[in-house]
Amino acid sequence: MEDRAILERLETIAGPRNVTMHADDLAPWLSDWRGRITGRAIALVSPETAEQVQAIVRLAGETGLAIVPQGGNTGMVAGGIPRPDDRAILLSLRKMNMIRSIDPDDNSITVEAGAVLSVVHQAAEEHGRRFPLSLGSKDSATIGGLIATNAGGTQVLRFGSMRALTLGIEAVLPDGSLFEGLSTLRKDNRGYDIRQLLAGSEGTLGVITAASLELVPAAPHRVVAWLGLGSARGALAMLRRLEGVLGDAVESFELVPDTALALVLEHIPDTRAPLAGGHPWHALVELRTANDPEEMRKYCEDVLAKALDDGLIADAVLAESEGQAAAFWKLREVISEAERADGMAAKHDVSVPVSAMPEFIETAREAVEARFAGARVIAFGHLGDGNVHFNVRAPAGSDDRAWFAQTGDAVSRFVHDMTRDAGGSLSAEHGIGQLKLAEFGRLADPVRLATMRAIKQALDPLGIMNPGKLVPLANPPKNP
Ligand code: FAD
Ligand code: MLT
Ligand code: ZN
Repeated sequence: MEDRAILERLETIAGPRNVTMHADDLAPWLSDWRGRITGRAIALVSPETAEQVQAIVRLAGETGLAIVPQGGNTGMVAGGIPRPDDRAILLSLRKMNMIRSIDPDDNSITVEAGAVLSVVHQAAEEHGRRFPLSLGSKDSATIGGLIATNAGGTQVLRFGSMRALTLGIEAVLPDGSLFEGLSTLRKDNRGYDIRQLLAGSEGTLGVITAASLELVPAAPHRVVAWLGLGSARGALAMLRRLEGVLGDAVESFELVPDTALALVLEHIPDTRAPLAGGHPWHALVELRTANDPEEMRKYCEDVLAKALDDGLIADAVLAESEGQAAAFWKLREVISEAERADGMAAKHDVSVPVSAMPEFIETAREAVEARFAGARVIAFGHLGDGNVHFNVRAPAGSDDRAWFAQTGDAVSRFVHDMTRDAGGSLSAEHGIGQLKLAEFGRLADPVRLATMRAIKQALDPLGIMNPGKLVPLANPPKNP
């Protein structure tokens, strides 16, 4: 079918105001957040109802077009960017952003897929509840994208990742049928869990149109601390001590190396280091309670004072106000932005068993520096989940682009091999998308790959849903 005829069909389905083929309208949505990958699409369509999504998916099936679902386009692996050679419809869910219902007694909220995370936070708070998943992209990332990538963030330690918080899903499947799974049941044992199959499927098995999410009590009081440490091992020991005394109140424990803090202070306005003096490592801790915050603060101070005496930490400061707590959090949440401003990086989103992570960070850094002269490692993030962003930058003063063109793939293979050898995963929370596809195909065990291909084939026999993402082909074409 000619592009013009497709446009007319899409306009009939979604209305002319929701369809565009103009290059200027499409451009912002055809490159990933880091600007590494740029794709192509025939049209950008922004449906307003699940019925419209169904009709668009049926049109794609009829005409052999690819459907690429997209939310906020904050994904880290270019899963929401069409490939340059596909005849693709870029399907934006951003206009489907209603809060459908909220039930404080049920501790649940039901929202359309395009609802932005920070809006969901706000809605929950207005009802005395919390949606306990947060990340640096919260003002753009959508619920559909977060479920499709099974996003993690900074409270996984306490509440788990997106899967754990998703009670129900409504989705358009590749044949255009509507899976109406918006239940908020906590117990439902009717066999295969289609909701969990769609979570983490990166748009390859269907288009999520709405979801029911778990809410938790508000726990309005928080204590936020910034610690200075000599080693990542000390950081993990500190986390375990805090948990020993404060239990579930410990909701976040994020690791920040001095190199990441330096990038933030250099590139992000209105930031300053919480502690005087340099420390090789820092940790950001958040404790939450619905009870007496002074009591929790006191316990926290006692644990930290003892840790200082024991030499486990080198320094610590507790935020004195909400403003200061927000300033500490900003330092953590803008690391990616600062890193992007500073230049290119080979990003690795790796997990290993939590207890093995401190040693992994050190040995993998030493190995990378020994193998790739001058390479600079920045490992930061979710230590308590056994997940760090193990990013490798070109030698200082070198030509980034030339270095990565020549060395980037070898660096990533090296890091991923070490991760596999440590019993880990090459994608802890960002997914596979396009950027990790070849590496996933190289390293995944054959039974996992065969099972994923069988599921994909069963649900999407025409291969229209987000082709070239997540599921490696059985026989990928060789590079010329
Ligand atoms: P998009 O980027 O638009 O899409 C992501 C994937 O989901 C694509 O494969 C797309 O096809 C698919 N998709 C999107 N919507 C739908 C839908 N409705 N139905 C089916 N498939 C769909 N991630 C973490 O896990 N933890 C972090 O701490 C974290 N921090 C971040 C910080 C920053 C500054 C940034 C820029 C990103 C961060 N991310 C983090 C990346 C994270 O994956 C995204 O923020 C989020 O999960 C993607 O949501 P999105 O709406 O932007 O999805
Ligand atoms: C983070 O934890 O800040 C993110 O996952 C983003 C990133 O890895 O760049
Ligand atoms: Zn992360």
